[in-house]
Amino acid sequence: MDGEARLASSNGPLKTPPTVGVGLIGYAFMGRAHSHAFKAIQYMMWPPPAVADLVSICGRNQDAVQEARSRYGYKRWTTSWQELVDDPEVQVVDNSTPNNLHLEPCLAAAAAGKDIICEKPLGRDADESRAMLEAVERAGVTHMCAFNYRFIPALQLARRLIQDGRLGQIYHFRASYQQSGRVDPNSPMTWRFRRDTAGFGALGDLGSHSVDQARWLIGEIGSVSGLTKTFIPDRPVEAGSDRREPVTVDDAALALLEFQDGPIGTLEVTRCATGRKNYHLIEVNGSLGSLHFNCERLNELRFFSREDPPEIQGFHDVLVTERAHPYGTVWWPPGHILGWEHTFMHEMHHFLTAVAGGGSVEPLGATFRDGYRNSVVLDGLAESSRTGRKVDLTYAS
Ligand SMILES: NC(=O)c1ccc[n+]([C@@H]2O[C@H](COP(=O)([O-])OP(=O)(O)OC[C@H]3O[C@@H](n4cnc5c(N)ncnc54)[C@H](O)[C@@H]3O)[C@@H](O)[C@H]2O)c1
Repeated sequence: MDGEARLASSNGPLKTPPTVGVGLIGYAFMGRAHSHAFKAIQYMMWPPPAVADLVSICGRNQDAVQEARSRYGYKRWTTSWQELVDDPEVQVVDNSTPNNLHLEPCLAAAAAGKDIICEKPLGRDADESRAMLEAVERAGVTHMCAFNYRFIPALQLARRLIQDGRLGQIYHFRASYQQSGRVDPNSPMTWRFRRDTAGFGALGDLGSHSVDQARWLIGEIGSVSGLTKTFIPDRPVEAGSDRREPVTVDDAALALLEFQDGPIGTLEVTRCATGRKNYHLIEVNGSLGSLHFNCERLNELRFFSREDPPEIQGFHDVLVTERAHPYGTVWWPPGHILGWEHTFMHEMHHFLTAVAGGGSVEPLGATFRDGYRNSVVLDGLAESSRTGRKVDLTYAS
């Protein structure tokens, strides 16, 4: 039996999903995660909303981008993002570049009528993020800011429990995002340590994820008081060099949050939590129950309910791999756990669904409006750290 006939016999008539031409700018950490997701979706989720046709890949270094092209399976490569945006076969522009390169390619892609997925934080500040939001709205294209933590099944379950009222009235949100990958003062400079390329340090890199979870799980943030700190003031210009360059962003940030609807929250983000790898703690406390999640235990959600009989009250560890759980029907049997890369498959599947249907990624996915509002919170926190005053946030859009 040939492949086509086998598919037809197991699934009914052969389904032929549409294809969508993808152009990827930036092929390193995130570019690899996105490319893997685009390719792997249809192995597990059939029929996909659209099959990603990997048309073009862009990076600065000719040899490296050629290697990435053959490794990931794109049809062509270029060192010019403008050429990629102008490519008529590219319908979707995936911007996986450092933060200083989000604005211009996104504006150009929107003007060219391309659908866009852009990595987080959307802009280096709220002005950039707002310009991107206005551009995609003007163009009427589908847009997504790549907050992939929204696609962790345990966090989708957390959101469902909150929305179903299982936690009652929400009082507290608590996020603590701790890493230590750059705690060594001799770990060299990268774009992540320069204000002009990154915007913020740990605050933008890690804190934007925490702020997104705060907004997505609890609601809009009304005011913020913040403190940022740089512990390692300079770093070698490159590995092993004696020459050092000043670090112009934060290594850590703390904040108090007040949500518009009443809950309060705390935020702690750091690149200097020795021993922590990708420890992203999210806790929510309500009048009826509490939730606890830690990204280093990605498949687990801890849930406490005051509605349980008193003799069994306590935090329950829920292994979020059951059929009844988010994405439970597309994966392996219960208990066969998922990894971080699967969150990108969920994310890209969601994005391609919106692209194929010509619609929006909200409310599950983050739009450029979410990206803009996220930037307003980060800017407010930095302003509060500078002035020592609480900042009431205003959203222009
Ligand atoms: N969602 C997440 O969990 C997550 C994780 C890490 C990074 N990010 C975000 O993803 C984005 C990229 O981060 P990364 O860690 O992949 O960075 P990286 O340094 O690993 O990769 C950046 C890529 O951009 C390319 N690039 C740089 N300048 C370019 C130019 N002028 N033209 C074309 N290509 C250019 C580089 O060649 C490289 O391929 C950032 O916005 C970052 O905040 C998100």
